[in-house]
Amino acid sequence: MTRAEEIIRQRIRDRGRITFAEFMELALYGPGGYYTSRTPIGRRGDYYTSPSAHPMFGALLALQLEQLWRLLDAPSRFVVVEPGAGDGRLALDVLAYARRLDAAFARALEYVAVDRFPRPGPGGPAANFSGGPGGPAARISWLRGECTPLRELTGCVLSNELVDSMPVHRVAMTGGRLRELYVTLADGSLAEEAGEPSTPEIAEMLGSQGVRLEEGWQAEVGLGARRWMEGVAASLRRGYVLTIDYGDPAERLYTEARKAGTVMSYYQHTPQADVLARVGLQDMTAHVNFTTLVQAGRKRGLEPVALMDQGSFLRNLGAGLFIDRQRREPLPQAETQANLMAMRDLVKPGGLGAFRVLLQAKDAPVAGLACVDESPSDQEAWRRRLESLPVPMLTPEHLDLLAARYPHQAGTQERW
Ligand SMILES: C[S@@+](CC[C@H](N)C(=O)[O-])C[C@H]1O[C@@H](n2cnc3c(N)ncnc32)[C@H](O)[C@@H]1O
Repeated sequence: MTRAEEIIRQRIRDRGRITFAEFMELALYGPGGYYTSRTPIGRRGDYYTSPSAHPMFGALLALQLEQLWRLLDAPSRFVVVEPGAGDGRLALDVLAYARRLDAAFARALEYVAVDRFPRPGPGGPAANFSGGPGGPAARISWLRGECTPLRELTGCVLSNELVDSMPVHRVAMTGGRLRELYVTLADGSLAEEAGEPSTPEIAEMLGSQGVRLEEGWQAEVGLGARRWMEGVAASLRRGYVLTIDYGDPAERLYTEARKAGTVMSYYQHTPQADVLARVGLQDMTAHVNFTTLVQAGRKRGLEPVALMDQGSFLRNLGAGLFIDRQRREPLPQAETQANLMAMRDLVKPGGLGAFRVLLQAKDAPVAGLACVDESPSDQEAWRRRLESLPVPMLTPEHLDLLAARYPHQAGTQERW
C-alpha cells in the first residue's frame, strides 16, 4: 500500500469519511502524493502538456505577452506570474523567445514561477545550456506556494493545466436531493458514500451558475478554483490573466453527456476510470468550470475578454505561419517531421488544440488583441512581424512526440 493511501485510511479511521476534495488533496499533494513525489510530465511520466510538446507554445505566448506589455504602455516592470509552473519548461521557452523580441520588453519582463512543489528541471536555475548566468533559466524567480503571493502587480498571471489539478468536491442528485460523495472505508477498501453536503457553498455555487442536475447525475464543484481565482484577481493592480486548461463553461459542463462527472485518473499515459485506485501513483484531474473562474474574477474587478479553444488562440497568434515555415526549413526529414507533429498537435482539435484559453483583464486595454484576431490590418502587420522572427525548434528538453509514438520513423526505440 502506498504511503498516501495509508495516510488517507488513517485519516478516515481517526475522523470518519472525508470529502472527495480532501481525498484528492491528500492523494496529489499530501506526503507520498502524486505531485509530492514524482515528475509526472513527459516521456517517463503519465502525460505531456503543451509546453513539453513544442517551444512554439512558449514562443507564441511570448509574442502575446509582448503585445500585452505594449497595451499597458510599455511599463519598465512587467511581471509574469506562472502558478503551477511545474518544471519551468514554459517559463524557459517564453524567456528564450522574449530575447528575440523588443529589447525593452525583454528587459521589463520579470518571470515568477510558482508551484506547490517546484521542480526546476534540467533547464532549471543550475543549468548552463539555457544561456549561462544571463540566460533564461537565471531569469526565473521560483516561489513555493499555492496562491499568488504577490500584490499590486502590473503584468499577467499565466497558467497551463493548473486548475484541472485542483481538488474538487463530488456531488450526485439522488432522490431529488443534492448529495455530496465522500470517501470512506467499506470492507477494508476505499469506497464512495453519499451524504449531506459538507458546506452550503456547493449548492450556492451551482445555483449561481443556473446548474440543474438531473436525477442520477454526478458532478464536480471546484470551490478551490474559485478561491484561487479570487486570489489571482486580488494580486493584480493592472493587467491580464491567461488560463489555459481543458474544460467548459457551466452550461456545457453539467450536461447529459457528462452525467457521470469528469473526474479522471491517468497512469502511464492511460486514462483510469477508478479514481480511488493506485493512490499517489496516478494523476487525478477534473474538467475546469470556466464559469467559476469568470465569476470569481468579476468579484475582484477582473473582466472576461475571451474564452476560446487553444487551436484558434495559437492560430490567431501565428501558429499556421510557423508551421508553414517549418515545412520549408532545410532539416533532416526526421527532425522536420518531429517538429511538425508536435506543432500540429498544439492546434489540432482532437489534440491539445481542444483545450480552452480564458483571457481576463483588470483595468487594462483589450482592443486589438492578437490572440482574439479582431482587425485584418493588424493581422497583416502581425504576420509581417512573425516572418522576421525565427521559427521555434524542438530542443532535447522537449518531448519528442514522433519518437514516442513512431519509434521506427524517428530512429529510436524509446517509448513512454
Ligand atoms: C498538471 S501540472 C502542469 C505543469 C505545467 N504548468 C505544464 O503545463 O507542464 C500541475 C502543476 O500545478 C501545481 N499546482 C497544483 N495546485 C497548485 C496551486 N494551487 N498553486 C501552484 N501550483 C499548483 C502542481 O504541483 C503541478 O506542478
